[in-house]
Amino acid sequence: IHNVIFEDSNEGSIQVAREISDLIRKKQALGENCVLGLATGSSPIKVYEELVRMHREEGLSFSNVITFNLDEYLPMDKSNMQSYYYFMHEHLFNHIDIPAESINIPDGSLPQEEVVDFCLAYEKKIKDNGGLDFQLLGIGRTGHIGFNEPGSHFNSGTRVITLDHITRVDAAPAFLGIDNVPRKAITMGIATVRNAKRIVLLGWGDNKAKIIKQTIEGKISSQVPATYLQEHDNVTFVLDKGAGGELT
Ligand code: F6R
Repeated sequence: IHNVIFEDSNEGSIQVAREISDLIRKKQALGENCVLGLATGSSPIKVYEELVRMHREEGLSFSNVITFNLDEYLPMDKSNMQSYYYFMHEHLFNHIDIPAESINIPDGSLPQEEVVDFCLAYEKKIKDNGGLDFQLLGIGRTGHIGFNEPGSHFNSGTRVITLDHITRVDAAPAFLGIDNVPRKAITMGIATVRNAKRIVLLGWGDNKAKIIKQTIEGKISSQVPATYLQEHDNVTFVLDKGAGGELT
């Protein structure tokens, strides 16, 4: 793992947005699609804001971009303000020129008997598009990436997962109480993420310092799924001083 510590999250986010826009433009010049794996939550907000700015002010086009989001709560309606579908449109998709059919987000509104097939089809669709060129990640206090909670298998694909209690506690404010937080989610798997050609994980603030240290310096273990990233050959952790504060 290569890690870079920025003065603050703004600087780090701008750097990451620049890497993404360079990749999109490079692919455009080659006449190729650019396949991005995207995250939600507080960590990537500034990256999306900067990409929107580049679209408005610098003519960055997303016409060749295909996106796959990491996860979605289950059950979850698209129109619900707590949905990751809503989040992505609010922070990115409504403000750029990506074709609607190029957006892929796990569907938390499916009847239970259709979810397994959906997950397998999601996985296949990523492969059929040539795999993820770039995967953006945040990290949860449990060491989850996507919603791959402790216990997740190295070879896991897109599937239904039961959310860890800590993850539900962290989500509680957004849901106005833990009782409203869904107990499950659909998430890309560890293998789905590992297969990305390039991975950037964002970590901001003191409250991520402990899990960042465990992830980078700890031993690889399913108890801290993010440690699996140690085996990827093209991953960078983009941190601020708070999140990088406990690294030796
Ligand atoms: C979101 C996701 C999660 C978050 C993580 C950190 O799509 O997959 O792994 O990245 O829970 O959330 P924030 O950024 O809100 O601290």
